[in-house]
Amino acid sequence: MPRIRIEGGHKLSGTIPISGAKNSVVALIPAAILCDETATISNVPDITDVDDLENILIHLNAKINRTTGKVEINSSDIINKEITSELSKKLRASYYFMGALLGKFKKVDMYFPGGCSIGERPINLHLKGFEALGARITEEDNHFIIEADSLKGNNIYLDFRSVGATINIMLAAVKATGKTVIDNAAAEPEIVNVATFLNNMGAKIKGAGTSTITITGVKHLHSCFHEVIPDRIEAGTYLILASLIGENLKIDNIIPNHLEALIAKLTESGVDMEIGIDNILVKEPKNYKSINIKTLVYPGFATDFQQIMATYMTQCKGSSTIEETIFENRFQNLYELEKMGAIIKVRKDNKKATIKGKTKLVGTEVVSTDLRGGASLVIAGLIAEGVTTISNISYILRGYDKIIEKLTNVGAKIEII
Ligand code: EPU
Repeated sequence: MPRIRIEGGHKLSGTIPISGAKNSVVALIPAAILCDETATISNVPDITDVDDLENILIHLNAKINRTTGKVEINSSDIINKEITSELSKKLRASYYFMGALLGKFKKVDMYFPGGCSIGERPINLHLKGFEALGARITEEDNHFIIEADSLKGNNIYLDFRSVGATINIMLAAVKATGKTVIDNAAAEPEIVNVATFLNNMGAKIKGAGTSTITITGVKHLHSCFHEVIPDRIEAGTYLILASLIGENLKIDNIIPNHLEALIAKLTESGVDMEIGIDNILVKEPKNYKSINIKTLVYPGFATDFQQIMATYMTQCKGSSTIEETIFENRFQNLYELEKMGAIIKVRKDNKKATIKGKTKLVGTEVVSTDLRGGASLVIAGLIAEGVTTISNISYILRGYDKIIEKLTNVGAKIEII
């Protein structure tokens, strides 16, 4: 099995360009099948989650033309058949085919999605939304058949501001008759990006990016050209890295507004950064103060950053804390960081961790437990003394475009072995 080998301690300088957002593109690709003509998506990152979605499209007989950074999808000849268990389980975002196929054909036949095991991750809110639009759901052993005679707009209140449920209900409602209102909707930038894509095709969606989204159903969706927004989580990952070991390290092609909570916390801890229109520059690392973070839905502090912040906190003086409120099992990486010398205490209920610093990290063999946990280990390896090898790297490659190349270009000694 391939592993990542890192020789730590080298200062990093230059520019890291940020790719299109994983959590946006993984919804845009399934959303594209709602288009009655050809949908073109640009700034597509080269990550395995995109490969897995492409395989589902091929399975459904869609026509795809994927070139570097771009994918054209024509779904005119799509065959609405069962998405096998193997394909469904490859990734979390396969669940967007539920909303998209239901919206297009009034029927979908697929299995419970896969993805990183960072918690239970039920899909009850997605299903509740589909039912409110008029769908009937049959489930047996994680096999779902969701169908409707017709889909009719309705008012849907989400008990939790779920990213997946908000997008999935939008996809199902876009061609329903009448008006759908999603209350307590999630407001992440990726949701706005998906709504903009659908509106570019002729959908009528208002309020994306706020807690109330209104969708007025339309009959047809025409061809469009759409760009994926920059990946705020990839950007934040490298910004944290720059704070630790950057020397004039610039994170480029980003939307700094999407990183407000992270920037605020890093600044509070002592990071000195220059924020440009579409980039952030860190000139040199400083001595950092401990900080406390609590994960929240957007615009709060993103859960996707907390694992990477754990590595950062090992380099802060004093006790830092992380309170995870979104997922039940997102501290697995901490046990790997401990192997490298981090001093960490996880509360029994698995919701809070305390990290004592500043500690020297020393390279060793560690295991990537999930995508962002894996990224936290890459950062740890880059700042550690000696050699770190990371196994289970498929988690990392599912979400970070050209990670080895981007880091090598700024002076890191990192390779896949
Ligand atoms: N939840 C329910 N019922 C539902 C849906 C969600 O109880 O029907 C719960 C979840 O179990 C979780 C919370 O609500 O405790 C939040 O889940 P949400 O639906 O918002 O997350 P998701 O759609 O499963 C997406 C991203 C995650 C990111 C979260 C939160 C994708 C494919 N995944 O997951 O990304 O952490 O939103 O922002 O968009 C990652 O990139 O590493 C990643 C895990």
